[in-house]
Amino acid sequence: MELHILDHRLRVTSITKSGLAHFTHPLIKLIFLRHRTRCKFFSMTETPENYTVVLDEEGFKELEASSQLQAEGSVWLPLNVLSDANASLGSQAVGVTKIAESVIAPLARQHVSVFMVSTYQTDFILVREKDLPVVVGTLEEFNIFREVGGESLLVRGHDIANGLHNNGKEAVPATLHPVLIPHNRFCVMSLDPDTLPSIATTLIDVLFYSGSPKQDEATSPSTDLDQIKFFSFSLIDGYVSLVMDTDAQRRFPADLLFTSSSGELWRMVRIGGQPLGFDECGIVAQISQPLADCDISAYYISTFSFDHALVPEEDIARVSDMLHKQRTDPTT
Ligand code: ARG
Repeated sequence: MELHILDHRLRVTSITKSGLAHFTHPLIKLIFLRHRTRCKFFSMTETPENYTVVLDEEGFKELEASSQLQAEGSVWLPLNVLSDANASLGSQAVGVTKIAESVIAPLARQHVSVFMVSTYQTDFILVREKDLPVVVGTLEEFNIFREVGGESLLVRGHDIANGLHNNGKEAVPATLHPVLIPHNRFCVMSLDPDTLPSIATTLIDVLFYSGSPKQDEATSPSTDLDQIKFFSFSLIDGYVSLVMDTDAQRRFPADLLFTSSSGELWRMVRIGGQPLGFDECGIVAQISQPLADCDISAYYISTFSFDHALVPEEDIARVSDMLHKQRTDPTT
């Protein structure tokens, strides 16, 4: 199996709700005017707390320092597992479920903090640049490549002798964070980046003006407390990925966005009562491991304050049960 350390140096930032207006100009540029920026990794997620913007240093330069912008201090590097046809034999599951045992759990055992960015196309595991030596030393079952200027350089071949070396280690006893399961149903979609202009008006409306309800919507039931505001847009190496609930989806022209052929809808598990911070490890592991045990697919999106797992809607009862058991009887 191959693990690639991608050639992006990322910053994890958040913009306050009220501060968004100060950043509209650079954000519009980063989203719609690709030829005007050298930013190759951009992801923006609205949650009830704030906007999380994960972007490379080129993109970060576009954002002016402000009290409305908070940036986590480290540089993060995205890792990406190249799916190996054989590895998924016997399992239909996709997303973090596929990498729970090979990547997420071993890193958690070595106290490496990760930050997850799942997209329509793939799952990025962000690790701090300073943790890279531990990461390379830990993920022994992979051939590890570092991408530099469009070339993949082999950093370390996989080590058969040591491949099982980590499996005996005790899992880190992690704090179990409270979870929240909102009622909205989500879809994970993509579109041809050349057709971005055709959804521009809707995207601008949804991303920048969602706080101001349209007149005719003032009395609609969208203020339901069980619904969470969550919308994510990413443009990474030329690939667009969108995560939105079915209410937002209805606002987009149906013919431009596409999703996987199964057209699945997803339910969300939000992890964290207090903001999770960036240093704790094992949070992704404690969610993805049981999902992997049950072979349930999941997307996983970390934001500045909380983590979010998306699971197929038909599995949400099972997942909710499992998380509840985990919290009442931590030995399971
Ligand atoms: N660092 C956590 C882990 O290793 C995941 C990220 C949680 N923090 C956050 N701000 N979303 O499992």
